[in-house]
Amino acid sequence: MEPVVQVYLKKGEDRRIKQGHPWVFSNQVSQVEKVDPGTIAVFRDSGGSILGHGVVNPHSLIYGRIYTRRTSSASFGEPDVRMALERALRERQHFTRQSLSHRAVFGEADHLGGLVVDRYYDADLKQVLAVQFHSAGAEQVFVKYRHVFNEVLGDSHSVIVHRSAMSRLKEGLEVKPTEVLEGSSEGLENFSARVAHSKVGLTANLLKGQKTGLFLDQSANINLAVSAILSGPEIPGKIIKILDICSYVGAWGVSLGEALRANGRDVEVHFVDVSAQALQTASMNAKARSLPHVVHEVDFLGQELSSLGLESQFDIVVLDLPSMVKNKKVLPQARHGYRKANRSAMKCLKKSGLQWYFSASCSQLVSRSDFDEDLAIAAQSAELDGLNLFVRGGHSADHPVRTWYPEGEYLKFRGGYITRSS
Ligand SMILES: C[S@@+](CC[C@H](N)C(=O)[O-])C[C@H]1O[C@@H](n2cnc3c(N)ncnc32)[C@H](O)[C@@H]1O
Repeated sequence: MEPVVQVYLKKGEDRRIKQGHPWVFSNQVSQVEKVDPGTIAVFRDSGGSILGHGVVNPHSLIYGRIYTRRTSSASFGEPDVRMALERALRERQHFTRQSLSHRAVFGEADHLGGLVVDRYYDADLKQVLAVQFHSAGAEQVFVKYRHVFNEVLGDSHSVIVHRSAMSRLKEGLEVKPTEVLEGSSEGLENFSARVAHSKVGLTANLLKGQKTGLFLDQSANINLAVSAILSGPEIPGKIIKILDICSYVGAWGVSLGEALRANGRDVEVHFVDVSAQALQTASMNAKARSLPHVVHEVDFLGQELSSLGLESQFDIVVLDLPSMVKNKKVLPQARHGYRKANRSAMKCLKKSGLQWYFSASCSQLVSRSDFDEDLAIAAQSAELDGLNLFVRGGHSADHPVRTWYPEGEYLKFRGGYITRSS
């Protein structure tokens, strides 16, 4: 029999948990047991009533993670994992019906705290699972119940495990290289993924790329931007110039370019990123769509884009900065960086006619109102007072944001246009 630890919440410490929050901090419990990380646990209020079941990790500040609110006494096990996965899958029916790559499990939001499962499909509908373990419990659950994942999510060509996130250190977990756990690694470095924001497969490196290969969280924002531009006023000029800053493999630039071209417009896409590998793939993605393009390998945070001759050149600018706020201490400094970066990006818009500007922030500690304020300050200093940021976005539906777990929300997105007389 597997060991099961009983966790008693201190009196008055269960309010948030009863509202649905899945985390139990070590200072909220009457005793922290010195058990192995990932040990199964029953969570009880101070009176002994069961609040739910999950796992504990004595090395982490988040001592317990509640995976199910079931109040019966049977320990956490296979039926709970199956139920969580089936529920997650039901919510992703739109993606699975169309065989589009998506996030199948988004940790806490899907009642499997610390576990991320991205599901990629190529043109032959070959499925690749890319898994991240952010908690000891997540790793235990995935390893122990692999057969349940296979049964619910179906057979995979390959299963890749990423253990490179630095947040693992806070859990007392090692940071390790990526591993192909199941199947072949062939083709994974140039995987052409079916995605919701492009009719053509988007190539990514599923072994050595960032995140699990693609930033799937941006799908809905890209589609929002495309439909805003296509339903908006006509962009003047013969060639629409698009600047995709922090482009990674070019998802924004190629999707906007592809959509405008399908609408009869000529485009030229510029990609800016510090990663040569990402730019090489962005170039492949542009070529696959026959999009004229230019790549700029540059440290955008250390260098003004004006020094590259990109100022006042573009009809559409997208800025998708990396997360810059690792803790609250650096928030003021990071927000200063956000303003500066947005100002520099905004200055790349042409000075007359109609231009579109889109910006995203994936720093969880930057609130929506912080982000709005930083954009307003940047717009003012870039002399874009008339910028109408009417497009608002955030997470794609496969990255659910639950009311009971506000910490799960990290992605903010705004965009819109400005019209100026010449
Ligand atoms: C949030 S990701 C962009 C995701 C991408 N826009 C997409 O939707 O797929 C941030 C990108 O910024 C790049 N980056 C990080 N620091 C940078 C810097 N100092 N200058 C330029 N690019 C940087 C990373 O290589 C990464 O590709």
